[in-house]
Amino acid sequence: MSAADLSGRRIVVSAGPTFEDIDPVRFIGNRSSGKMGFAIAEAAARRGAQVVLVAGPVSLPTPPGLQQRVDVRSARQMREAVIAQLPADVYIGAAAVADYAPAEVAPGKIKKKDEQLTLALVRTPDILAEVAVHARRPTVVVGFAAETHDVEFYARGKLEKKKVDMIAANRVGVSGSGFESDDNALTVYWLDGERALGPAPKTALADQLLDLILARWPA
Ligand code: PMT
Repeated sequence: MSAADLSGRRIVVSAGPTFEDIDPVRFIGNRSSGKMGFAIAEAAARRGAQVVLVAGPVSLPTPPGLQQRVDVRSARQMREAVIAQLPADVYIGAAAVADYAPAEVAPGKIKKKDEQLTLALVRTPDILAEVAVHARRPTVVVGFAAETHDVEFYARGKLEKKKVDMIAANRVGVSGSGFESDDNALTVYWLDGERALGPAPKTALADQLLDLILARWPA
């Protein structure tokens, strides 16, 4: 790693969760804090890249040196914000995008009536998969995979199905990695290889992931 080894590269990073509203007071979301994606954005900017950070609802300060931070709430808004940033050299999808959203958002607070409530959910747009086949596809498309078990099986499945260049897989549901914690451990998979990174602080892993991307796609 050198101080400005990403100089001239345009990198779009997504981070944090998306919230899919059920009514004006409730939503479907997950436990992402945004720390992993923000660490990647900060490291890339420090190394000279022009970085656009598309962030879901998080309570993190904007890292120094970014070209732009775009705050969004839902998967649909995140998709629009990311696609609007293409073309780019690299897209890194660290956001934990909700896979399903309520089919309809109730205009008023849903009142408690019956013992059970059934919500109709619809799939959200798959931003990573769309970026990977877009006419303005970045040179390098990197996804994440958050898994509780069979990490390699599911990560390699996403690598193939979403047509991305690399998948950085992390274990969730255990302490010291994945959501919310300051530390993480990644196994990065590509078609004919893999590399284990960490366990380490997310700030250090961000630099190691960028090193790996640079090593495989030198300028
Ligand atoms: O934010 P932190 O608290 O620091 O936690 C970090 C993290 C655990 C959120 C992060 O390291 C991580 O794993 N991010 C991806 C989480 C996730 O949603 O994984 P997934 O396996 O469900 O999705 C696979 C990939 O597809 C991801 O790159 C995701 O951004 C993308 N995706 C998923 C669904 C969707 N509708 N659109 C997408 O782009």
